[in-house]
Amino acid sequence: MTAAIQNGGNTAGKTYKIGIIGTGGIAHSHMKAYQSFPNVEVVALADIVPGRAQAFADEFGLTNAHIYNDDKSLLDHEQLDGVSICTYNRQHAGPTIYALEKGVNVLLEKPMCVTMDEAVAMMRAEKKSGKILTVGFQPRFDKNMQMIKRIVESGELGKVYYIQTGGGRRRGIPAYGNKTSFIEEETAGIGALADIGCYSLDMCLNAIGYPKPLTVSGFKSDYFGKDPKTYKNQPNAELFAEKFGVDDFAGAFIRLEGGVYLDFRIAWAMNINTPGDTIILGTKAGLRIPSTDCWNGTTGGPMTLYRQMAGESVEEVVPLLKDGPNDGTLWERKIGSFLHAIETGGPAPVPTSQILINQAIIDGIVRSDAEGREVEIQIPEI
Ligand SMILES: NC(=O)c1ccc[n+]([C@@H]2O[C@H](COP(=O)([O-])OP(=O)(O)OC[C@H]3O[C@@H](n4cnc5c(N)ncnc54)[C@H](O)[C@@H]3O)[C@@H](O)[C@H]2O)c1
Repeated sequence: MTAAIQNGGNTAGKTYKIGIIGTGGIAHSHMKAYQSFPNVEVVALADIVPGRAQAFADEFGLTNAHIYNDDKSLLDHEQLDGVSICTYNRQHAGPTIYALEKGVNVLLEKPMCVTMDEAVAMMRAEKKSGKILTVGFQPRFDKNMQMIKRIVESGELGKVYYIQTGGGRRRGIPAYGNKTSFIEEETAGIGALADIGCYSLDMCLNAIGYPKPLTVSGFKSDYFGKDPKTYKNQPNAELFAEKFGVDDFAGAFIRLEGGVYLDFRIAWAMNINTPGDTIILGTKAGLRIPSTDCWNGTTGGPMTLYRQMAGESVEEVVPLLKDGPNDGTLWERKIGSFLHAIETGGPAPVPTSQILINQAIIDGIVRSDAEGREVEIQIPEI
């Protein structure tokens, strides 16, 4: 039995009843991870596309699972310990709030939502319910991502004052086959900025303790998404270009409380190999975190620490940390952390109090782009 399973396992001999809302792409990763826990039963599935939830049940051999046509009918009829919400971004807030109102613990896929109003409503519902709402940032369970936070917290860097972060893909707009849920305004709401930008922001902000953002000057663009040539060799290239209604690139300069400045850029598509590594500059040392070719919120190689020693410039490589045989997969750790929080009554492994700040920055970039100027960021009281 893996540590992850033990972590999410029960001590009371109880079987946890889980539902999955939205049985598209990422629900498969949730399901595979749930199946590694012997004390978990996925008892209910919902999808608004007719037949999709049943096909999912058939694929995973869930012969006893109850099938529903939407989130509300599932939540109205089932007594659940927890639910994975795996719907597209515009359907994050509604099902999450309804699940919390029904007294169900929620593991919500990232990004948290689309607008700040939604984020605030979700957190108020969480507070009122007393239930767990955790957001699905699996890089939090990656040892090398955790190492970034450990390095900052160890004091090796001194005071952190500047961060350059982001990530990019040369051609990585997530539209393939018939799938357009990431690129349509009505389903995704925000593009690369929320989809993969939320990971870059979380990597750095989590490491430095999520200071409050004060102002943001940002913009977003869609030069590639609206061009059929971007989707070369794809039979639906013309359709994708026509339906593309979000951003494929965003950049911003963000002032954070405590004198920290964040330079951010994110791309689903661009004419360069990488928009650069993440660098964290501190008064005692600087840290370089190599970017991945196809940004997905992980480290692209060993990190390097740069500092002065006895008057000389030195560089130290931080070796990549490997998972042990009993650690479970990243997804088992993500799902395990949710199950563990259900069992113990919390806290949420990736709390909304932090992700609200992530969402506020994304929202600030959207507003700044719309207004064509720097905007202030207000974090409402929950
Ligand atoms: N953590 C990760 O690594 C990761 C990876 C991919 C996607 N995601 C996130 O997961 C979410 C879903 O992505 P996906 O690739 O699975 O999308 P998808 O379009 O393949 O699946 C979403 C499903 O939700 C269904 N749905 C929408 N509203 C619903 C409702 N009210 N009730 C029931 N079903 C509903 C849709 O019909 C669809 O089948 C997105 O927010 C995305 O950002 C996370």
